[in-house]
Amino acid sequence: MSGHGAPIPMISTACGALSGVAEVPGDKSISHRSLILGAMSVGETTIEGLLEGQDVLDTARAMRAFGAEVTDHGGGRWSVHGVGVGGFAEPDGVIDCGNSGTGVRLIMGAMATSPIVATFTGDASLNGRPMARVTDPLALFGCEAVGRAGGRLPMTLMGAAAPVPVRYTVPVPSAQVKSAVLLAGLNAPGQTVVIEAEATRDHTERMLAGFGAQITVEDTDEGRVITLTGRPELKPQHIEVPRDPSSAAFPVCAALIVPGSDVLVPGIGLNPTRAGLFTTLREMGADLSYENERTEGGEPVADLRARYSPGLKGIEVPPERAASMIDEYPVLSVVASYAQGQTVMRGVKELRVKESDRIDAMATGLRANGITVEDGPDWWIVTGAGHGNVPGGAVCASHLDHRIAMSFLILGMAANAPVRVDDGGPIATSFPIFEPLMAQLGAQVARSGA
Ligand code: S3P
Repeated sequence: MSGHGAPIPMISTACGALSGVAEVPGDKSISHRSLILGAMSVGETTIEGLLEGQDVLDTARAMRAFGAEVTDHGGGRWSVHGVGVGGFAEPDGVIDCGNSGTGVRLIMGAMATSPIVATFTGDASLNGRPMARVTDPLALFGCEAVGRAGGRLPMTLMGAAAPVPVRYTVPVPSAQVKSAVLLAGLNAPGQTVVIEAEATRDHTERMLAGFGAQITVEDTDEGRVITLTGRPELKPQHIEVPRDPSSAAFPVCAALIVPGSDVLVPGIGLNPTRAGLFTTLREMGADLSYENERTEGGEPVADLRARYSPGLKGIEVPPERAASMIDEYPVLSVVASYAQGQTVMRGVKELRVKESDRIDAMATGLRANGITVEDGPDWWIVTGAGHGNVPGGAVCASHLDHRIAMSFLILGMAANAPVRVDDGGPIATSFPIFEPLMAQLGAQVARSGA
């Protein structure tokens, strides 16, 4: 089933060497935040390189519903005329965030401290995901939420009319929860403090500082302590969105497993809170280098060069690295299938509550393709078959999850028999040019219509 239309079955067949330049789209996390912070500032924010995937388009539509003027100027150039902190209008209709957990959770935070009511919904995947992790801390500001059993969407939030600042320790490693609390803190008087035991992606903190908020981050024994002073006037910005490391992961991993490949992926954001996959791949013996390292728009950026790596070996991924590569475990498990030995991934319970249960989705599909996978509540182990020995041949369910669909299509690029996915439709949420981009490198990915 696809969230946005009829299922699009796809097939990936073993191909010759992949080569060329892979210009992946803008970063999804930074794109959502650009639109939301633009909508919360006074004046016009301009954005270049916005990801025009469905998740981000849904957030753009939501910002319009809350009163911001959001304009698409073509070619990834957008502008947002914001309404200021506390200036959100009450939306006329239901806010549909489609497939996007980041979109809905950040927007809930952004409206939670304004005296308005909004109802949120999403597709079947999003409506099954836990929202209490966000509405619990938002309740501390005075925001009320009523949803379905288990804290699921559809859900209505009544923003606090007289918000109070909060001090909140995030109980799970989640940048979405941290960001929701910080965005709510913007319209609470005084200081809102968020503490995270494990560092998660810090784009919200960096961007809030860029928009002129008073925000400090301290590393303490408790973890990262983030202190935000409420009620700032956010100043509009010009934002250049770096290319998404989570999307770069797909052509990079494909190049590592397809014999003879040599692929350059330019301008990738390499914020240390996002780059864990590339460290892990190098530890596995990947021929992967950073070229032309630089800083763009406050984020570290480099060109990635990935070459076929026949000597990959399984490793134990340090659990403390999990947050910096949380979206990359599915495609890592594909590379692990082509490595020698076991790749052990622990401390990854959060994978079970993403767009799908990603451990279950990948373990089931990899097993069907002849790979040995063991899994438990917060761990999984892939036993690599080695290059040339991945059987393939199965149809895999993508469970409305873009990263699951793309991961299995990468698996098929060097497998002994083609790999199919039941629905490639969700790929459009984060990587709408995946098919032409991979085809241009030499991959054999097609809509199979079966
Ligand atoms: C994101 C945070 C992560 C990640 C998601 C994007 C963000 O989710 O998986 O794709 O932009 O803040 P969690 O906060 O649930 O870990």
